[in-house]
Amino acid sequence: MLGTPRHHYRRTDSTNARLRELAAHGAPHGTLVTAGVQTAGRGRQGRTWTAPPNRALLLSLLIRDPPRLLPLAAGVAVAEVCGQGATLKWPNDVLIDGRKVAGILVEGRPQEDWAILGIGLNVAIEPDQFPPDLRTTAATLNLSPALIEEVLQRLLHTLVRWTVASDEAVLEAVRKRDALRGKPVSWTGGRGMAAGIDLHGRLVVETDAGPMALDSGEVHLHT
Ligand code: BTN
Repeated sequence: MLGTPRHHYRRTDSTNARLRELAAHGAPHGTLVTAGVQTAGRGRQGRTWTAPPNRALLLSLLIRDPPRLLPLAAGVAVAEVCGQGATLKWPNDVLIDGRKVAGILVEGRPQEDWAILGIGLNVAIEPDQFPPDLRTTAATLNLSPALIEEVLQRLLHTLVRWTVASDEAVLEAVRKRDALRGKPVSWTGGRGMAAGIDLHGRLVVETDAGPMALDSGEVHLHT
């Protein structure tokens, strides 16, 4: 069961920050925090995450005893909700037509066995509502704001399945949606050709010096 209890904020700094406080005070597995708007939404790699008020799904879920591949499993679940054509840019950016429609930030306390799964999904942002610097790289489901709640419920159901799926099933699903395989990529310190996802969920890259496996960080796709 994911999504109970639920705390909804019309406006907060970051749903991940709110849930972290709840988690530290013993909130149960599945606790959900949602917001209409965030004033300090957090992205990966120390970036910020912004969305116009009441146009995006902004949520954080508390996962106790998280599975090893939670970041990848969450990407698969979000992609499934976004449709057949949605792809995954390792580790878990969800893309539609090569543009990012959702971002996932997993923060945790491994020593206390819990993780916060933060998801931002552009459900009802109109294309011209993106700031100019994101207009060519961001995507939206372009649905009515009235459907945000329905998308949330579908996502929660899908996440229940994928957070208990076997590693093999998660890896197979990730590989089917892999947006990077066979494409040139670069990261701080190197470049090469993406060659799939290994058994540990790492991105395999063929470089001039041979194959390498990246286990965290940011990769850039070169078109
Ligand atoms: C990324 O950089 O791709 C990850 C973005 C994650 C954004 C979501 S929005 C809801 C949750 N609360 C946050 O502060 N961040 C995540």
